Amino acid sequence: MSQKRIRTPGIEDAPAAPGRGSEGLSISDSQALAGAEEAAVDGVRVHDARADAPDEDLDRSLRPRRLADFVNQTQVTDQLAIFIEAARGRDEPLDHVLLAGPPGLGKTSLAHIVAEEMGVPMVQTAGPALERKADVASFLTALEPGSVFFVDEIHRLGRAVEETLYPAMEDGELPVVLGQGAGARTVTLPLPPFTLIGATTRAGLLTTPLRDRFGLSHRLEHYNPEHLGEIVVRSAGILGVAIDPEGARTIAERSRGTPRVANRLLKRVRDFAQVKDRGAIDAEVAASALKMLEVDAGGLDRSDRALLDTVASKFAGGPVGLSTLAVAIGEEADTIEDVLEPYLLQQGLLKRTPRGRVITPRAYEHLGLQVPDAARSLF
Ligand SMILES: Nc1ncnc2c1ncn2[C@@H]1O[C@H](COP(=O)(O)OP(=O)(O)OP(=O)(O)O)[C@@H](O)[C@H]1O
Ligand SMILES: [Mg+2]
Repeated sequence: MSQKRIRTPGIEDAPAAPGRGSEGLSISDSQALAGAEEAAVDGVRVHDARADAPDEDLDRSLRPRRLADFVNQTQVTDQLAIFIEAARGRDEPLDHVLLAGPPGLGKTSLAHIVAEEMGVPMVQTAGPALERKADVASFLTALEPGSVFFVDEIHRLGRAVEETLYPAMEDGELPVVLGQGAGARTVTLPLPPFTLIGATTRAGLLTTPLRDRFGLSHRLEHYNPEHLGEIVVRSAGILGVAIDPEGARTIAERSRGTPRVANRLLKRVRDFAQVKDRGAIDAEVAASALKMLEVDAGGLDRSDRALLDTVASKFAGGPVGLSTLAVAIGEEADTIEDVLEPYLLQQGLLKRTPRGRVITPRAYEHLGLQVPDAARSLF
């Protein structure tokens, strides 16, 4: 099968250089990217589930290739398997697919898997890279019939570009305006049949017309420790490190429900085991390595604790607005919303209220602080 891949800035290019403006990355992001290894030693950002660090290479080697390798998310994969088989049987492309969910849960992997299972080439780009209608047109008209056209961060498409996609998705045609002014006329270009796969961490930002044009729409959920344990064992096999079930479980429990984090922690634990000259990764090695990385038993890393601690100590437990909080802890608001908060919310450590973020009594307990009476009465 021919896998045609178009590399677009900001998606696959690692290592990341600071100031990748088109990606909208912040200075603090680029710093974290530039020093991912250092950061790990600092214990900061080991949990950052975004795909932009040099670990992207690791991501790629550990990425499941077939549906059968894709652990869990059966609510998604069972359906996809059926639709893929049906589409193949009819010799038609699969309907357009929207994949939503927090970073590092397997959206990109699934897009690759769909192309692989359909036996078609995949062309990859991202919302911010499609700046003008002409960009979309050049991608779409060059597709081999049946291809998967993967648009990552599809919520970041511009309005005009998005509107170009509507007829392309629905009718397989592309209206193009030729000429300018009074002499301008519209011609309609027929497109090769294709499957658009859109991935987004922010399904809420998609417009309804775009969302409605996806025949299949799936949301990936966080993984439980059992499934993450399977992923850790599988990855350890690929990396050629010995690991026992308790070791895998220790890593899985602290991976905040995210396969990418599990793989990243595994890699760091492997380094630790190697340097300390221990053979297999067992629970003890894993626990000491994670302790060094400052990942606590609840799976929180230093940035998570800094966030909770700031709300507790500087804002009397909240409510505090997102932008204020972002300044207080020196993070981007987007990073807080996409990376830090989902897990804290899910763990019941933080709440979003109309007036801002509030930490729960559980968060005080986690930080080893006395729960103030005011906080108790709030919940
Ligand atoms: N279900 C799974 N089974 C095994 N490994 C997985 C699974 N899901 C994700 N992974 C691993 O996690 C890594 C990250 O997944 P992927 O890049 O697909 O996430 P993503 O949802 O596209 O994240 P982002 O939103 O940051 O782009 C992959 O390289 C893969 O190794
Ligand atoms: Mg991705």
